[in-house]
Amino acid sequence: MTAENRIVSGNTEDLTEDLIEKTLRPQLMAQYIGQDKVKNELKVYIQAAKARSEALDHVLLYGPPGLGKTTLAMVIANELDVRIHSTSGPAIERPGDLMVLLNELEAGDVLFIDEIHRLPRIVEEVLYSAMEDYYVDIIIGQGPTAHPVHFTLPPFTLVGATTKAGSLSAPLRDRFGIVSRMEYYSLEDLRQIVHRSADVLSTKIDESGAVEIALRSRGTPRVANRLLRRVRDFAQVYRDGLITKEIADKALSILSVDNKGLDDLDRQILTTMIRFYNGGPVGLSTIAANIGEEMETIEDMYEPYLLQLGFLQRTPRGRIATPMAYDHLGITYDTEN
Ligand code: ADE
Repeated sequence: MTAENRIVSGNTEDLTEDLIEKTLRPQLMAQYIGQDKVKNELKVYIQAAKARSEALDHVLLYGPPGLGKTTLAMVIANELDVRIHSTSGPAIERPGDLMVLLNELEAGDVLFIDEIHRLPRIVEEVLYSAMEDYYVDIIIGQGPTAHPVHFTLPPFTLVGATTKAGSLSAPLRDRFGIVSRMEYYSLEDLRQIVHRSADVLSTKIDESGAVEIALRSRGTPRVANRLLRRVRDFAQVYRDGLITKEIADKALSILSVDNKGLDDLDRQILTTMIRFYNGGPVGLSTIAANIGEEMETIEDMYEPYLLQLGFLQRTPRGRIATPMAYDHLGITYDTEN
């Protein structure tokens, strides 16, 4: 399966898709559907920070991919009425790269770092004083001309996003005053997101069509929006453009997305475990080698949803496919297991 065909993936690198994805993003809290707990807390902190004319405390958003962490960071900046400067952990290789970003900040601005768990340690160390006391001390030059330089920064808000809160070092994690866990979206939230996105795309969709797409979206708005765009194409070609359950079913079965939202790779992971390893326990690296996929992709993109569905369990000895997974795949569960 090529990356373009996947409905499950990280942030898109396709420019057209990227543009559409951006137009679908809510700009303000009032437009942001779901994540009520996170939203309600943030609304209070934002209002309080604004009332005091202070920068909002640093925010860490964590949870599985595709749940809208980047979108929420933008919403936070919009609500605060400040600029957002976006980057990602792997893009900042040296302290100097971070300095360039910090240098652009104005009082109250948001600095958004996606995949913050992938920041190099030497960069992370520079962030500590920046976050805590709004200054950095760095060494400029090399050898005998090397000298420390002290930079003071305006008060700013660091918004960090990660799929792996556990990989964050304790000193970095402790410097976030607000730590919010994003959850998978409910069916009702996804149904509303599909309707809202269809509206933004000027696409007609009936209730059954919206529910069908929501059901197969793996609890994730990014997937919901991708499926909506694909189904919209089918509706345009095979119908008068109206998205119904029937057309959604047809499009999604062509895309190999089943009624739980699993795609080919999800099913390959489970069938490999069941057919070759008697359902497990089996190590992640073994599964990855068998299906020719990177361990990270499986762990970050696929496993969280399979765990959430109860199709997979993690044990100290490896992964196990549950009886529910057998049932879903139509394979008889041998109780000798
Ligand atoms: N599009 C993507 N995520 C969304 C959300 N949480 N609310 C509304 N529209 C969205």
